[in-house]
Amino acid sequence: MIELLLRSPEATRKLGRKLGRVLRESDFVALTGELGAGKTLLVRGAVEGAGAKDAPSSPSFALVNIYRGGQVTLQHIDLYRLSGQAELFALGFDDLLAEPAATLCEWADRAGSALPADRLEIALEHAGPSSRRARMAARGARSQRLLAAIRRK
Ligand SMILES: Nc1ncnc2c1ncn2[C@@H]1O[C@H](COP(=O)(O)OP(=O)(O)OP(=O)(O)O)[C@@H](O)[C@H]1O
Ligand SMILES: [Mg+2]
Repeated sequence: MIELLLRSPEATRKLGRKLGRVLRESDFVALTGELGAGKTLLVRGAVEGAGAKDAPSSPSFALVNIYRGGQVTLQHIDLYRLSGQAELFALGFDDLLAEPAATLCEWADRAGSALPADRLEIALEHAGPSSRRARMAARGARSQRLLAAIRRK
C-alpha cells in the first residue's frame, strides 16, 4: 500500500500522468472516493501521461469514454449513475474488460463482484480544501507491477 498526500489539484494530475505512462493493456484501476475527491482529474492526468489527445470530462451520460492515440488505449468508465448489477450486464462490463485497453473506473465499488480480481485500487479522500489523500493498493500480480512502476517514476 502506498499513501500519498496530494497538496494541490496539480499533484493529483501529476500522479495521474505517472500512472498513464506505465499503464498497459488489460490493467484495471479501480477509483473510489466521494464526489469531488479528484477521480476525474486523476484520469485526465492518465490520459495525458499515456499520450492520448482528448481531455476527459466526467462522462455524464455515456458510462464509457475511450481515449486512443497514446502508448495504450484507455477506457474511462464512470459508474456513478449505475442503477444496479443488471445495468452493468447491459453495459457489457465483462466485454469491456476483455478489450485491448487499460481501464480506469470511477465509483468502482458500485461494480461489486464484477470487478476484476487483479486491480490497482486508488482511494481518494478530502484532506482539506485543496488537498487529497490517495491510498493505492495492488490486488494481484499485474497491479503489483503497476504500483512498482508508479513508485519508480
Ligand atoms: N488535491 C486535489 N486533487 C484533486 N482535486 C482537487 C484537489 N484540490 C482541489 N481539487 C478540486 O476538486 C475537484 C475534483 O473534481 P473531480 O471531478 O476530479 O472529482 P471526482 O472524484 O471525479 O468527482 P465525481 O465523483 O463527481 O466524478 C476539482 O474541482 C479540483 O480542482
Ligand atoms: Mg468524476
